[in-house]
Amino acid sequence: MSAETQQKNAQYFIDLEDKHGAHNYHPLPVVLERGEGVYVWDVEGKRYYDFLSAYSAVNQGHSHPKIVDALVKQAQTLALTSRAFYNSKLGEYEKKVTSLFGFDKVLPMNSGAEAVETAIKLARKWAYEVKGVHGNNAKIIVCENNFHGRTTTIVSFSNDPDAHNNYGPFTPGFVKIPYNDLKELETVLEKDAENIAAFLVEPIQGEAGVYVPDEGFLKKASELCKKYNVLFIADEVQTGIARTGRLIACHHEDVQPDVLILGKALSGGMYPVSAVLANDNIMKVIHPGQHGSTFGGNPLACAVATAALDVVEEENLSERAEKLGEKFRNEIKKVIEKSDLVHSVRGKGLLNAIIINDSQHSPTAWNLCLALKENGLLAKPTHGNIIRLAPPLVITEEQLMECVAILEKTIVEFKK
Ligand SMILES: Cc1ncc(COP(=O)(O)O)c(C=O)c1O
Repeated sequence: MSAETQQKNAQYFIDLEDKHGAHNYHPLPVVLERGEGVYVWDVEGKRYYDFLSAYSAVNQGHSHPKIVDALVKQAQTLALTSRAFYNSKLGEYEKKVTSLFGFDKVLPMNSGAEAVETAIKLARKWAYEVKGVHGNNAKIIVCENNFHGRTTTIVSFSNDPDAHNNYGPFTPGFVKIPYNDLKELETVLEKDAENIAAFLVEPIQGEAGVYVPDEGFLKKASELCKKYNVLFIADEVQTGIARTGRLIACHHEDVQPDVLILGKALSGGMYPVSAVLANDNIMKVIHPGQHGSTFGGNPLACAVATAALDVVEEENLSERAEKLGEKFRNEIKKVIEKSDLVHSVRGKGLLNAIIINDSQHSPTAWNLCLALKENGLLAKPTHGNIIRLAPPLVITEEQLMECVAILEKTIVEFKK
């Protein structure tokens, strides 16, 4: 415990947030003060395994020394210039990120939602200027139960009442189809191909509850997009950067999206860094003054993201996520057999979820998370009875097995 917090217990910090902060989150009652690798510590000095990883932003682990070093050095040198001038970090970062992900160009932004907005604008502009869609008629196909962020345009096509209701009037131009439904995708494409700019999709629906589509869905969807001259946009803000056992989840099916959206772990969770990647034939529609952000592409962000991507490569995080994810699901399946509290486990790599055997609106998942907290593991329900389990990818096999033991003990001992 630091000297600063010595006299102050968790309740003090909880009360402060409660009184002075907007109530737009419902946190678990734990006040974190420090993190290192797969661990976080609360203000009372108790250590936990972090099984949320800041919604998969901390894939490289908390306070990774290489990323901290890059952050500190760059902060002491030059943090922000705006894009009114060139800077000595942006070009090299752009070269690295484009060659790593296989695109001609990148457009740097900050949050995930901003990058999604950028991709939407890019697709619309491409539709009018390259594809030849007329008079503000461009449409983008999206999926039911999507989660792409919180801006007014993005929540316009959300069907989560909490995200959507009372935020109208909504942005038009989106067509919703069921997730993982190739037939419906083709029907919509066939009907209105000349007006459709893009298909925007999460390769795994993370926030919705880690829904993994059928094998072949991404491949076939991208082929359909090609057939109808529609951009295949992959929102890999949560699934990207090694989380699912590949650099991006689309690689599981050898799919190269036309537009790739990245965020979160692009900076190892150290700083808000997001990006939209595309080839020249698409990116060329954006000219000076037509899109931007004061912070996007700043030297600090570029130094941090470069280091964060180095860590992903140097520490083989994709391979680790693939191998440990497989092991984790197998072990959890054995736990499930010992209790009727958990219905199933699903996921890819180290993006997984357990489904609790109770109704959508029961408090069981929340209460199980409270019990897990007591036993030293932090996780949070995504929607109702689904608990996402996503540790930093630097977790060792030994640590993972310790976490399986915590999950087993908590699940087996849990009383509703
Ligand atoms: C798939 C996806 N897209 C976009 C976002 C929004 O990112 P941010 O919260 O950084 O705006 C998220 C956040 O969870 C996400 O999971």
